[in-house]
Amino acid sequence: MDRTTITGGVPLRGEVEISGAKNAALPILASSILGGGECVITNLPRVVDVLTMGRLLEILGAKVQHEGNRAVINASTISSTQAPYDLVKTMRASVLVLGPLLARWGEATVSMPGGCAIGSRPVNLHLAGLAKMGADVSMEHGYIRVKAKRLKGAQIYCDTPTVTGTENLMMAASLAEGTTVIENAAKEPEITDLADFLVKRGARIDGVGTDVVTIEGVRELHESDHDVIPDRIEAGTYLVAGAITRGAVTLRRCRPNHLDALLMKLREAGAIIEVEKDRIHLNAASRLKGVDIRTLPYPGFPTDMQAQMVALMTAAEGMSVITETVFESRFMHVEELRRMGAEVKIEGTRAVVTGPTQLTGAPVMASDLRASAGLVLAGLAAEGTTEILRVYHLDRGYERMEEKLRGLGATITRHKEGAAAAGTR
Ligand code: UD1
Repeated sequence: MDRTTITGGVPLRGEVEISGAKNAALPILASSILGGGECVITNLPRVVDVLTMGRLLEILGAKVQHEGNRAVINASTISSTQAPYDLVKTMRASVLVLGPLLARWGEATVSMPGGCAIGSRPVNLHLAGLAKMGADVSMEHGYIRVKAKRLKGAQIYCDTPTVTGTENLMMAASLAEGTTVIENAAKEPEITDLADFLVKRGARIDGVGTDVVTIEGVRELHESDHDVIPDRIEAGTYLVAGAITRGAVTLRRCRPNHLDALLMKLREAGAIIEVEKDRIHLNAASRLKGVDIRTLPYPGFPTDMQAQMVALMTAAEGMSVITETVFESRFMHVEELRRMGAEVKIEGTRAVVTGPTQLTGAPVMASDLRASAGLVLAGLAAEGTTEILRVYHLDRGYERMEEKLRGLGATITRHKEGAAAAGTR
């Protein structure tokens, strides 16, 4: 398995370009199933999850020509409605084909996503919504089976805002008969990006980005092109990389308005931030102070930035309380940060960090995508060398992370599987 080594202590400086948003790319690719013709999707991040979604579409029978940041997809040739366990177990977001397959092809069989490193992640709200729209839902041999001749518009209330759930239901409702209203919908910018794509293809969607999304079903969707929005979590991760190393970084091609909660917290911690239309400059030369953070659905502070902020708070003066309200057990990075010298206590859903600490390099284990990002950031600030094992997690969601960090002056190297593995942990 690949590993990455980082020799920390260098203030990062320079510019970095932000890639397309993984979490927008995935539902947009899945939604190609909803219509015939060729859809050309650009600004796709070159990350493993996007390749996995492409493979899944191919397994279903779609034609996928994927090169670099662009994919041309023709889903007129779908020949299977089954998403196999092998793929779903590597990427939970495979469940995003459930709604589109059901709406367009009348049935779908998708392996039940298992547990993952950030806790149990049920899909009950996806299924309850589809059932309300008239689908027959059953569970057999670890697979979810849904069937419906044609879905019917319905009034759906989500007990908790769910991102992929809202996306699945919005996609399914686009081809349903009549009007669907999703209440307590999630409001993440990635959902808005998906809706923008669907609307270009003829869907009728109103209220996206608010708690109540209304979808008037149409008979079919036509082909269209789409350029995926920039990744706000990747952007946030590079801002924290600048802050934790007391550096000065500029992000290019980002959407500052998608990062409001994070920018406010970084400013509160003492970073100087200037925002232009599609750029953010961060300067963190002076002392940082601890801030309290509570993760929440958008526009609240993103849970996908929690691990990175725990790492940052180890370098800040005073006590910070970071409360995770979206996922249980999303503190796997904390044990590893402690091995680097961080003073962090877990109290239920809160991480209490006392800083500042000079972290020291150590071998650490990545457990999930964002936890891995938190460890990379800690490694950038640590004295000496940090070795991160299981970095395949990073490849799921960060395009060319080592290369981008090197561009900012970091000393970071990827060691490919088999090469120089002896003598390491
Ligand atoms: C998406 C993102 C992920 C991010 C998360 C929260 C993608 C591909 N992934 O994941 O990066 O961390 O949003 O911002 O976009 N829940 C239920 N029942 C359901 C569905 C969800 O109880 O049927 C709960 C979950 O357990 C969790 C909360 O709702 O506590 C939010 O989860 P959700 O928004 O669904 O996360 P994902 O869509 O899986």
